[in-house]
Amino acid sequence: MLVASAAVLADGDAAAGKHKTAMCQGCHGIPGYKTAFPAVYNVPKLGRQHAGYLVKALQAYKSGERSHPTMRAIAAGLSDKDMADLAAYYAAEDAETAGK
Ligand code: HEC
Repeated sequence: MLVASAAVLADGDAAAGKHKTAMCQGCHGIPGYKTAFPAVYNVPKLGRQHAGYLVKALQAYKSGERSHPTMRAIAAGLSDKDMADLAAYYAAEDAETAGK
């Protein structure tokens, strides 16, 4: 069910998204990594999350609905297409290869 709706929701291009993860991996690719600024935050794992959820989360950071400062700054620089591509990539990512 989740897989089917992810494919419908995200018309993103996973291959294109892969190239855009360079700026995400520094935080999201490290198991157990916590940011030190502005507070100690657990960085959520993105691999295999629902694509529609990932896009919504990124849009919420961009709009300010979600207030985490680092992610707001990052999402502000992403287009809708970037978000869809990134979400498609992370949603398809194997749990085994997450973060590699
Ligand atoms: C400097 C570290 C850092 C970088 C770089 C970074 N993130 Fe994040 N990200 C975080 C942290 C910390 C959170 C948790 C914030 C919160 O609690 O709202 C987060 C949350 C998220 C969430 C919400 C996840 C959830 O489970 O709700 C998404 C989606 C996300 N990031 C995507 C990305 C993408 C895509 C990129 C690259 C374009 C990226 N992030 C780059 C630190 C980072």
